[in-house]
Amino acid sequence: MNRLERTRLRNELERDVLRWVTGPDVEVPSLPSVVVELNSEIVRGRKSLLALSRLVERDPLLSARLVRVARSALYGPALGELDIHQAMLRVGLEGIRDLAMALTIEHVFIAKRFARVTFESCQRSFARALCARALSAQLDLEPARVFLPALLADIGEQLLFGALGDHQHEFGVLSDALIYELVAELHPHVGVHVLSRWDFSQDHLDVARAHHADPEHARAMGPAVFATVVAERAVEAVSAGQATDDVFALEGLEIERRVLDAIVGVARAAWGR
Ligand SMILES: [Fe+2]
Repeated sequence: MNRLERTRLRNELERDVLRWVTGPDVEVPSLPSVVVELNSEIVRGRKSLLALSRLVERDPLLSARLVRVARSALYGPALGELDIHQAMLRVGLEGIRDLAMALTIEHVFIAKRFARVTFESCQRSFARALCARALSAQLDLEPARVFLPALLADIGEQLLFGALGDHQHEFGVLSDALIYELVAELHPHVGVHVLSRWDFSQDHLDVARAHHADPEHARAMGPAVFATVVAERAVEAVSAGQATDDVFALEGLEIERRVLDAIVGVARAAWGR
């Protein structure tokens, strides 16, 4: 088979996988119930802070992890002891809902064969969201408007790894290497599919679609896309032990390295593993 034929077959496979994974055979699971409940109470504006903290406290593990993140230096002066009620005051109701999403999303998609990879994707997504949030002031962007889109930009990876790794499908046995390549190529499109099923706004869909765009293109698409693209590059550089000065200098943005290291540390520590 020559190179042209290989490319044609590969394009066909990508098209078929995308059609299958966004079709009726592959279910998009529901959002974490604690996030749905928190969101509906926040939207209705019905419940008191105390009542909402009780809602979160029904899950003691989640509650402890939320507190651990909320008391970090990323949300103000680093604090020692804090309860969930105080954590909500510090982070805000939307902030707690978004953190709850970050810390529970790993349980939404089941991916046995790629469990480790999808877990690491959740951690990296959390770091990216915290980093995009840290960039928001420099872009005149509300922190709450960038955290969730940046967090969910890779959500297509979760569905794809689960579907291709664990489901029966018509593509035969796919090697890990091929699945990684397919996920890398298709996850922005699949992310848009998942987020539209979950009724997220166009802003979220745009970020998922374009989060691997080059920074110039991303800048033209708006501050949330731009912040996410730069955050993605910065988190990748930190994870690889590389310098981050260039990432920011090129884009006219700045985050101190110690803050970035703290962001990646908080994202890793949030799971306590
Ligand atoms: Fe991605």
